[in-house]
Amino acid sequence: MRYSIRSWQVFGWAIGILGFWVFAGRAVGDEAVDPYMTIPAAKPEELTSTNGWPSIESYGKWTRSLGGPTSNRFSTLDQINKGNVSKLQRAWIYDSDAGKGTFWTIECNPIVVDGVMYGPTASDDMVALNAATGTELWRYHPQKDSYDARFVQGTLMANLRDMPARRGLLFWPGDADASARLIFGAGNWVYALDPKSGRPIASFGQAGRTALPMGATVGGAVWKHIYVTAGYQGDAFGYDVISGKMLWRFHTIPDPGEFGSETWENRGDFGANCWGGMALDESRGIAYISTGSPKPNFIGPTHLGDNLFGNCVIALDAATGKRLWHFQEIRHDVWDLDIPAPPNLVTIMHDGRKVDAVAQVTKFGNTLLLDRVTGKPLFPFRFRRAPASRLKGEKMPAYQPDVQMPEPFARQVFTPDDITNRTPAAHAFVVNLLKNANMGWFAPVQLNRPTVFYGPYGGANWPGASFDPRTGRLYVTENEMGVVITAIVDDDPPPLVPMTAGEKIYQQDCASCHRSDRRGGGAESPSLHGLRHRLTDAQIMALWKTGRGLMPPAPPMTEEQRKELLDFLMARDRPPLTPEQKKLPRFTSKGWGWLYDNEGYPGVKPPWGALNCLDLNTGKLLWKVVLGEYDVLTKAGIPKTGTENFGGATVTAGGLVFCAGTLDNKIRAFDANTGEELWSAKLPWRGSGPPSVYAVGDREYVVLAATGGGTLNDPTGDAWVAFALPQR
Ligand code: HEC
Repeated sequence: MRYSIRSWQVFGWAIGILGFWVFAGRAVGDEAVDPYMTIPAAKPEELTSTNGWPSIESYGKWTRSLGGPTSNRFSTLDQINKGNVSKLQRAWIYDSDAGKGTFWTIECNPIVVDGVMYGPTASDDMVALNAATGTELWRYHPQKDSYDARFVQGTLMANLRDMPARRGLLFWPGDADASARLIFGAGNWVYALDPKSGRPIASFGQAGRTALPMGATVGGAVWKHIYVTAGYQGDAFGYDVISGKMLWRFHTIPDPGEFGSETWENRGDFGANCWGGMALDESRGIAYISTGSPKPNFIGPTHLGDNLFGNCVIALDAATGKRLWHFQEIRHDVWDLDIPAPPNLVTIMHDGRKVDAVAQVTKFGNTLLLDRVTGKPLFPFRFRRAPASRLKGEKMPAYQPDVQMPEPFARQVFTPDDITNRTPAAHAFVVNLLKNANMGWFAPVQLNRPTVFYGPYGGANWPGASFDPRTGRLYVTENEMGVVITAIVDDDPPPLVPMTAGEKIYQQDCASCHRSDRRGGGAESPSLHGLRHRLTDAQIMALWKTGRGLMPPAPPMTEEQRKELLDFLMARDRPPLTPEQKKLPRFTSKGWGWLYDNEGYPGVKPPWGALNCLDLNTGKLLWKVVLGEYDVLTKAGIPKTGTENFGGATVTAGGLVFCAGTLDNKIRAFDANTGEELWSAKLPWRGSGPPSVYAVGDREYVVLAATGGGTLNDPTGDAWVAFALPQR
């Protein structure tokens, strides 16, 4: 039997809270309570009229990833347009040939300055390419001394941040005192390179790099002489762009005594971190940071409370790092529903005037639309009474968001009606898998019973959204995938150091699937924590004889070895927990299990991936089209389903939305007005980041990374691919 819940390995993390003080004094007891609670829409005096920044013309350049400090991924170029896009062809391909077979993918949106494209390779180099030909001009390899291996729920988290320019980079043009530089994060460092030579700028930090204590992934932004960025494991930072000196640090998990610290009854080990991206209003000196969930995911007793500043958009004074406001979507997020994406700085019509706002797409499928200066929501933001906890020691917040406007762009609640009906066999298979499942709006996880919900892949994810400042329309890609989480008792005392004989056998024969920390990686390799509460020695030995599903029979062992391994698995080879250790609630989750059917297709009804257009002037979803297809299903006469996708959209003045990231390895151009697909081309590997748009001379290009890999675990390569119209 094929296992239908595919494990998912990396990333993750989620969403959180909201204007804590708004609800102080409305704590919920046993008395009758309002089923809803709403943050009212901004009053006219709480709305900020536009100041004209940025001009539309400034969108002609791509000197920061995501198309500038707004993170809007909009280009004024219109040489490629609806009339001629069908003729678009590949102009060049650059394959550094170094990254094949690596797990990590390029997710960076590259920058282009004066005919030169800058971006990373999958082998962790930075390269400069002739943007008209794809010819390499230089290559730089950041030092790899940053490696700080750290397992989080069985996943090695350090790689993600070790990649240079993981989610972006920027070009700072220099001034009278300092030369131009490329600035990006890698490992625990921020680097500054000379754009001409690719060599580190010696006067920046320590020989061209400055320490970033929480690790890098996000592309930063510059205000005056301050480079603002955020840490992969939390906090936001301001650096002197010339010297590299750290000027300020903002704690995304407040220290005791700091504002918001009262929202943690106890502390999880990390989280509330920024890994999706940020934006910066250069006219007002405000940086906008979006944060993920508190960790660990799914099990919250070790970090009770609303958990500020998890799941927030935080507005920081770029000069000082002082918090100006924050807005929390989900409190005490135990569903991995991070705010995963860069905020978009938007200008829209609202109540008859042009206002400056922040639009933040979320994994839950919401678009937080907030005034850029006051942080007040432009539409009433509604909360609903949320279900109580089902785990001992866990406390759920009284309310969670149930938002009407802007309209959610993804399904938010998993219901039995969502189960796939692709074929009768697929339907029956998933019905059986979920026969005992817990589901519903913000259903908390349960012990030994699967909980199924949407969201850890998105809704939106790190690719975020693009925004057309001329029309007020937002283009956001999304996934709609079920995930199944089960809580299990986890009171195993920690294994001994050095390893016992039984653990040595385990590490050799079992860890490849169940992971070295026995936490497993989803249903393909379940967690073996707390095994003694579920199975007997005899049952385990029976399983070893026959194997089951993807679990192979155990290799031959002596009687002695079998005993040693069982003693390790059942935690008999070490002392029991101390009374102090026993006080903590001890649960863990079986990790991410994605819901697939009997043939490996998503276990929910389509769409499985989609591109949405939201009119932010009205809050209405204008259109939604499926994104991607499975050829086999299309040929069998099934309407296009969309596929899981991680790529992201880019919109142009040519009236086009470019988008890749789908499992069919295609890049597509859609009509920005209607969502009609106008063009597509096959990429050498799956598109893995959002396209950038630029011109060299009078020729317009669209370029993107196509490396496959990463979260979707598909074949990997190492290509940058550029498209242009044929030259006459
Ligand atoms: C190739 C991957 C793989 C390897 C290697 C592997 N397992 Fe498993 N194991 C699985 C899978 C998959 C399951 C779930 C089987 C099912 O229920 O269909 C499983 C289930 C189990 C279970 C039952 C867990 C539960 O909660 O019911 C135990 C116990 C277990 N494995 C122990 C081991 C031990 C000990 C080893 C090493 C001798 C080992 N496994 C090696 C994949 C593997």
